[in-house]
Amino acid sequence: MSTAAHQATYPVELQAQVEDYLSSLAFTDEPSITGLVEAMRYSLLAGGKRIRPVLALATGKAVGCDTRELLPLAGALEMVHTYSLIHDDLPAMDDDDLRRGQPTCHVAHGEDVAILAGDGLFAEALRLLLCDQAEAPGRVLAAALELVTAAGTEGMVGGQYVDVSAPDDLEPEALRRLHELKTGRLIGASVGCALLLAGETGSATIALRRFAAELGVLFQIVDDILDVTGDEAELGKPRGSDERHGKRTYVSMFGLDEARRLAGESHAKSRAALAEAGGHTQELERISDYILTRQT
Ligand code: IPE
Ligand code: IPE
Ligand code: MG
Ligand code: MG
Ligand code: MG
Repeated sequence: MSTAAHQATYPVELQAQVEDYLSSLAFTDEPSITGLVEAMRYSLLAGGKRIRPVLALATGKAVGCDTRELLPLAGALEMVHTYSLIHDDLPAMDDDDLRRGQPTCHVAHGEDVAILAGDGLFAEALRLLLCDQAEAPGRVLAAALELVTAAGTEGMVGGQYVDVSAPDDLEPEALRRLHELKTGRLIGASVGCALLLAGETGSATIALRRFAAELGVLFQIVDDILDVTGDEAELGKPRGSDERHGKRTYVSMFGLDEARRLAGESHAKSRAALAEAGGHTQELERISDYILTRQT
């Protein structure tokens, strides 16, 4: 499949909604803090696929919501994700100098400001969700709890810890666990938070959550593959970062062919869960297909 065909399957109309919303966020007008906000917006508005917010909007569509009503959640998800990228790229972490096709936040703004920009995006994400998400307070609180849990010790940060501290002889189950935590939980929350805000509790939510959990692992397997096979200009980040740091990945553990097979298996499981969920899942199907075949 050509790159154009990959892009065509992605719900770009939802991506555009997210993009417009993110550009409207100003964070503060206090002059002494302008530099911090510039660094936050530098990373946040540098493009990116917007998979997590697009997933949240697509989940909303699947259960009959107006996607515009979920934009604060969408923004919050992308802000937490962007914070995780800024910190992931720091010299003490992956020490990468290219992200979303431009110099990483610490290269452009200095390490001190980049750390603060990440912290600022995380806190402002919660503020956005808690202040601007117009739903019954109980639903908003439940979504906020799911989001911070996904970012926390049994989520992204815990996974990042396992990533930096994992022994070389990591077992396959432990590698899957790493992927579930560092990437899967936030992707899972993108679906889960939208369901909570929509007040969905029916049996379809179980299948949708299973879909999201599998999609999260699929996403990171493909990320591991692209770290070896990807085109740096298309990826917008350095190729070979994992190997440089001796990271345990699906490619280093299983080899490229088997990693690709496992990605296919994971994609099939995610699609099967979606079929079980039923409803208006066209956008979710397109996202799942895109995640398997993406080159960026
Ligand atoms: C990269 O995420 C980091 C991982 C969790 C693998 P994305 O591939 O979603 O990065 P952007 O948001 O499109 O830049
Ligand atoms: C990081 O995984 C996932 C995050 C939680 C940010 P990677 O280190 O593989 O992400 P990339 O490849 O730098 O985007
Ligand atoms: Mg990393
Ligand atoms: Mg990295
Ligand atoms: Mg990677």
